[in-house]
Amino acid sequence: MVQRLGVVAESAAGETRVAATPATVRQLAGLGYEVVVESGAGLRAGFTDASYAGAGAQVVGREEAWRSDVVLKVVAPSAGEVAALRDDATLIGLIGPALDPALVDTLTQRSLTVLAMDAVPRISRAQSLDVLSSMANIAGYRAVIEAAHAFGRFFTGQVTAAGKVPPAKVLVAGAGVAGLAAIGAAGGLGAVVRATDPRPEVADQVRSLGAEFLAVEVEQEASADGYAKATSADYDRRAEALYAEQAADVDIIVTTALIPGRPAPRLISADHVASMRPGSVIVDMAAAQGGNVAGSVPGEVVVTGNGVTIIGYTDLAGRLPAQASQLYGTNLVNLMKLLTPGRDGQVVLDFDDVVQRSMTVVRDGGKTWPPPPVEVSAAPVARPSDTAGPAVGKPAVGKRSKPPLTDRRRFAVVGLGAAALFLLAGFSPNQLAGNFTVFVLAVVIGYYVIGSVHHALHTPLMSVTNAISGIIVVGALLQIGHGHTAVDVLSFAAVLLASINIFGGFAVTRRMLSMFTKD
Ligand code: NAI
Repeated sequence: MVQRLGVVAESAAGETRVAATPATVRQLAGLGYEVVVESGAGLRAGFTDASYAGAGAQVVGREEAWRSDVVLKVVAPSAGEVAALRDDATLIGLIGPALDPALVDTLTQRSLTVLAMDAVPRISRAQSLDVLSSMANIAGYRAVIEAAHAFGRFFTGQVTAAGKVPPAKVLVAGAGVAGLAAIGAAGGLGAVVRATDPRPEVADQVRSLGAEFLAVEVEQEASADGYAKATSADYDRRAEALYAEQAADVDIIVTTALIPGRPAPRLISADHVASMRPGSVIVDMAAAQGGNVAGSVPGEVVVTGNGVTIIGYTDLAGRLPAQASQLYGTNLVNLMKLLTPGRDGQVVLDFDDVVQRSMTVVRDGGKTWPPPPVEVSAAPVARPSDTAGPAVGKPAVGKRSKPPLTDRRRFAVVGLGAAALFLLAGFSPNQLAGNFTVFVLAVVIGYYVIGSVHHALHTPLMSVTNAISGIIVVGALLQIGHGHTAVDVLSFAAVLLASINIFGGFAVTRRMLSMFTKD
């Protein structure tokens, strides 16, 4: 029998989001489920009962929605809500098992299966379910909007008849998901944006958003799992100097620093706040985890004696409820696709799948939390030259690369190459020697030219290599059928390889362009 999937209203004070929108309800129904939505569940996010009914859901009362086979919600349930679940139900939401062991114990007292959306491992395959990232993205954007609202001036610079307006200067501390969204939003409003982070590998991402990366010149290991490790005392001392300098200069600071499993690192001290100009604004996104900023209060706006506004909102994503519900709902649809391999309205939990295993807190009444640790692939290590910031000293260093060739070895390799070339030129027909010289020169020049092209220009570079592949195809076609088997085989291989490059290039470009296409 098809399972019933219930979307319930959030009862937590101030919670504006809902676990499904009309658009995602349609997708859930497409997986074979009978979808019911509690009456009024979407009102605070701007979705009426009629819009859910129009999307194919049945609008029902509270009790009926909670008695569904699978219950979808946003935040963790209260004790009363756990009691309202039917036996053998599956509950999916932001459970926070690491933060609330008492709730995990309550959940295990019933015959339930519980999946925590906030326990999705940070691996590429699970990105489409990663609620923490989708919410942090919204929150980073909203942090800048809140800052702009509290700031008494433009973000963008202007030259007007009434005078010249300088652009606002924004510092973003912590360039993870929220930090990058904040950089994008502040840059979009026209501010001059700077950002810092102990992970050297994010420097390129910061720069690709048009911001300046301020490196703290201390050896920090590259992250192996996308999260920062605790910073060293040396790092903290140098970072302190950077924040002291920046606080006196910038108008807005957005802090997003987080090290999983630890209280938020304190970045901005009371002295830094005191050195800021009146009218400046700080948004402490980590206020709920102890705060990156001295004097921030979770959920509150504080104005200091020297006129600096410190915003400590903990519900930034919920302040864009329609957007947050849409992205959360889409994360849930992606999870349900994973849990419904037969597209037949039946949940099948596969513990061999590391994503499903990591998220499962309780299975059939048995506690399965904490899950075994997940091996995640290392993020690419930035080359030292990529991480050099504007500040002085040596750049931050990632893992050691291969040692360079010694001079003796280099001379030996060059000598051997030259001898081989000499022999070939001496014993081969004139035409081959000429062609070979062109080939060798092309390889050498190509190696140095292409090797020096910046990552950001790899797409235009791909177009050039496609053009070269086109020339190869034409050349190879002209050689085929002249009666020499070796030439035929070589020409065929050339056509094949060049075609792979051309069609592969088209496929990649199409995929990239579709990312920018509006529905
Ligand atoms: P993330 O893990 O993607 O990024 C955190 C960044 O902080 C990492 O790039 C890390 O390298 C950096 N970091 C760690 N230690 C640092 C230090 N000492 N100095 C500078 N940077 C440091 O985390 P995400 O998802 O971007 O979340 C950021 C923060 O925003 C978290 O504290 C999260 O709880 C919070 N958040 C707040 C919301 C709100 O409504 N206030 C909503 C969503 C997230």
